[in-house]
Amino acid sequence: MSTTTIRVHCSRDYDVLIGSGLLQETGKLVEEVHNPCKVAIVSDSNVAPLYLDKVAASLSAAGFTPVSFVFPAGEASKNLSVYADILNFCAEQRLTRTDLIVALGGGVTGDMAGFAAASYLRGIEYVQMPTSLLAAVDSSVGGKTAVDIPAGKNLVGAFMQPLRVICDIDAFETLTEEVFHDGCAECIKYGVLESPRLLEIFAEGTAKENIEEVVAISVQTKANYVENDEFDTGLRRYLNLGHTIGHAIERTANFTLMHGHCVAIGMVMIARAGEGLYLTEPGTTEKLIRILETNELPISCDFTTEELLDGALADKKRKGDLISLIVPKHLGECLTHTVPVTELGTIIDLGKETSV
Ligand code: GLY
Repeated sequence: MSTTTIRVHCSRDYDVLIGSGLLQETGKLVEEVHNPCKVAIVSDSNVAPLYLDKVAASLSAAGFTPVSFVFPAGEASKNLSVYADILNFCAEQRLTRTDLIVALGGGVTGDMAGFAAASYLRGIEYVQMPTSLLAAVDSSVGGKTAVDIPAGKNLVGAFMQPLRVICDIDAFETLTEEVFHDGCAECIKYGVLESPRLLEIFAEGTAKENIEEVVAISVQTKANYVENDEFDTGLRRYLNLGHTIGHAIERTANFTLMHGHCVAIGMVMIARAGEGLYLTEPGTTEKLIRILETNELPISCDFTTEELLDGALADKKRKGDLISLIVPKHLGECLTHTVPVTELGTIIDLGKETSV
């Protein structure tokens, strides 16, 4: 069993373990950081049939007492009602402050179970076990927990770092190609931010063959930003590369397009706009497009500037009349470009295919 360990240093240091065969080792890996106790495993209806028994058996063998809460898979479940059901379940199972929650699944599970852990009894420990590439390289690391409310996604939540992150790369084998590639978009984002090695792997189209390294570099890159700005007041904003326009595309499409796919288009558009504004090295957009296409990710959408502008203005990262955009200088280095929101329409226009 090969395992890569990334240590995340913040208000509470913790390890992200990345490797093959970790699901069946859950009990031992949790016992290294927590005494045997009752464990509420939170999972969804897609992931539970695949891995819940394995994880529960491993926890039992290590002396833990697992109980499980399974909710219907999908973003629609990430709401206050299911969140309250998780809290009720924990209370009915008489979990105390010395017990644990394990989030077994993708981003919806991790965000919602993490928020339940952050708030139940004013906070109990939790372990993230991401089973999708997207969750492994983004939401499971960094301590952002949340649920959606009717007014918007992730509008209610808390910062709470997990006790440990256990990422079994074997779980990615059951992802569809489309879902796997969706996760690749966030990894390519880390490449554009600062990793030539990630860009090399994705340019060659060899992410699957190098998946442990891909996850490890991605998690280390995310950790670099989280460690310097745990509570998202400055530097962590760089993780938003491709997300301002990407979120606008997601909203305009009424969340029918996948997150990573929208981020891929958002990265292309901001790179092209950057070239138009002389902030980005000429040719950067073309190189990025080739990498995204090699990984079966989209590079454009048909929405109008007006539609995207509406979506972008709803972004919760906007501060008053200014918006900070993360723009590639070239592939491997980015900068912050803060503009009045009134200029956003021009930037979106510049980002469209027809502008070059
Ligand atoms: N997903 C971006 C962040 O964790 O800050």
